[in-house]
Amino acid sequence: MKIFTKRKDLSQYLEQLRSDGKTIGFVPTLGALHNGHLSLLVRAQQETDKVVCSIFVNPTQFNDPKDLEKYPRPITADIEKLEQAGCDALFNPEVSEMYAGNEQWHLEIGELEHLLEGKFRPGHYQGVTQVVFKLFNIVKPDKAFFGQKDYQQVLVIQKMVEILKLPVKLVMCPILRETDGLAMSSRNIHLSAGDRQHALVLSKTLNWLMENFDRTKMPALTRECAAMISAEPGVELEYFEIANGENLHKSDQQTKEIVALVAVKVGVTRLIDNMILA
Ligand code: PAF
Repeated sequence: MKIFTKRKDLSQYLEQLRSDGKTIGFVPTLGALHNGHLSLLVRAQQETDKVVCSIFVNPTQFNDPKDLEKYPRPITADIEKLEQAGCDALFNPEVSEMYAGNEQWHLEIGELEHLLEGKFRPGHYQGVTQVVFKLFNIVKPDKAFFGQKDYQQVLVIQKMVEILKLPVKLVMCPILRETDGLAMSSRNIHLSAGDRQHALVLSKTLNWLMENFDRTKMPALTRECAAMISAEPGVELEYFEIANGENLHKSDQQTKEIVALVAVKVGVTRLIDNMILA
């Protein structure tokens, strides 16, 4: 695997591949890679000729400086995983390579920015769109692969792609779960053994909802799920919503795509999860 820290060098390498007629797949990440990330890589390998992964802990998307500071950065282990998975190139820039001082960025993405995650993490999606726009400009991928776990992020990036008419196709890949149901996340390493047990309430509740889903009972089901999660010791519910999968408005009976989304704090660790219901 080729490793690049400078955008110019990566661009040159990719230019050559493109002139050889190769399609480029891109898997952007914050690192601390787990099997969920690797499943994006496998999908990218199936759908494109060459795959670039980026590892960059983007400071502008962290609204909490403590969260940024403690974000795991196991770069040696990450490189090994990417090598083993047959990734073609890694882009691992320093902050100074990506940002020239205090850059201004604002993209008008409408309500999606302020709903659910946006409400609890103000400014987060501006930081995400800022860095993904930069990364897309450097990599110029044919396809970019994102995990369904960050469902709202995929909608936000899709919106950016549409607004700025970026020539890239987004592919949303299913959530990967541990055998006990916990959605894979780089943040799971912060969970104590006790927290981890309590965190299972998320997938249990989403599975229960899937089994009992009834379009005519969405308000009651939402309340019931929220109560199930709130009743779990050590778990603080931020939101539980059954939403329209296209715009994240509260879902009604006519809605075609329906998704349940949840965010909690378990101890000091913030976790999100979701399930597509229809
Ligand atoms: O989902 C992530 O890992 C990040 O938000 C992303 C898309 C790599 C942007 O920093």
